[in-house]
Amino acid sequence: MKRVLTGITTSGIPHLGNYAGALQPAIEASRKPGTDAFYFLADYHALVKCEDAHRVAQSRVQVAASWLAAGLDPEQVTFYRQSDIVEIPELCWLLTCITPKGLMNRAHAYKAAVDDNIAKELEPDSGVNMGLFSYPILMAADILIFKAQIVPVGRDQIQHLEMARDIALRFNHMYGQGKEVFIPPYEHVAEHVATLPGLDGRKMSKSYDNTIHLFEGTARDLKNAIQRIVTDSRAPGEPKDPDSAHLFTIYKAFATPGQSADFAAELRAGLGWGAAKDKLFELLNTHIAPMRERYHELMAQPQQIEDILLHGAEKARQITQPFMEEIRRAVGLIPAPQAFQQEQAVDDKQVKKQARWVSFKEEDSFYIRLLDPEDETIFLSQPFSCTKLMGQAMGAIQKGYYELVAKEGHTALQVQEQVIALLDKEQLHKMQTFLK
Ligand code: TRP
Repeated sequence: MKRVLTGITTSGIPHLGNYAGALQPAIEASRKPGTDAFYFLADYHALVKCEDAHRVAQSRVQVAASWLAAGLDPEQVTFYRQSDIVEIPELCWLLTCITPKGLMNRAHAYKAAVDDNIAKELEPDSGVNMGLFSYPILMAADILIFKAQIVPVGRDQIQHLEMARDIALRFNHMYGQGKEVFIPPYEHVAEHVATLPGLDGRKMSKSYDNTIHLFEGTARDLKNAIQRIVTDSRAPGEPKDPDSAHLFTIYKAFATPGQSADFAAELRAGLGWGAAKDKLFELLNTHIAPMRERYHELMAQPQQIEDILLHGAEKARQITQPFMEEIRRAVGLIPAPQAFQQEQAVDDKQVKKQARWVSFKEEDSFYIRLLDPEDETIFLSQPFSCTKLMGQAMGAIQKGYYELVAKEGHTALQVQEQVIALLDKEQLHKMQTFLK
């Protein structure tokens, strides 16, 4: 079984773009045999960006109802709210204590906020709260507490997954005593999901205020929204280029290839924008209407939604509670009677199975080498010009203060942004296997 996990931030009303880009593919994936899916409402993450308590409260219900109405089966997947799992913020703190601040300084979302402030001649950290700054740590906790292997996300989240892996390896190194406490998770970025344009033609996103609600409202509201999609000024009868028409992009995401081809041909033959919008409405509404009806039924019974989510949390905590016990132990949060017991001696075999770092000098340069348990070289570092630099890098590496950064098909092992070695897939795999 592959454990797949993803979170949905609850700071708004689900829109068509969310459906095509996330809900629909995630629900489909959850039905695949061999998949153990965990989908959750990232309501703690919502608080980072949204101070409107009513909006957060309502969004949690709207998002949950949307997933259920779209066909998510809460018996088949584990569907819960982040804030119902107390182990998540608890783990988040433990991870916060081992995450270098420098790692967070490099997070894209934080850097973008700083760049934006500088461009506006404000203080660099103006308006940045600690939640935004340490957002990737909370996300790492979400993932690691469930030992999720695969995390379906959008491209903008890839760096967060890199950071989650980095944090997992660092924790294992510091506290694992040769064992893998956390499993390094990997992102899954779907190639074929549609990114829908919004009303103004930019990517549909609540931050651009250009969305079309998925289930909220009525068929009439959907029709009105579609009327507001921008088009060019070509009159009925003039040929239109489907590939540059936003409404055609939306149409394609919901239509069969045959329907799309027909629609494209009609546009090229001069179908007017008004008639084209009617066609788009018909298609979308046919698709959405039955789900919209379920959505409104659910929204009329909020207690039912609450029960489903609490049941999901109960299922989820059967995993997180015992695992958190283990993690607390690993960092020394153990009952008083056990506090003075000797650490269990690590047996010889286990020591021998470890890889080890060695340094050596050749010509006038210094190198670091990682040896596998059989003393075969896994990889060699770049040359260092003096022992001091080599020693500093070695010290950092041995404490786990390194980053693994994807670079041109390789993975760079970096210390303080300096590339120490470039690893291919096999080298990386060996390193992660033996270096526990
Ligand atoms: N940051 C994600 C987003 O904005 C949401 C999220 C929070 C998430 N925690 C997660 C996604 C854990 C995957 C796994 O899309």
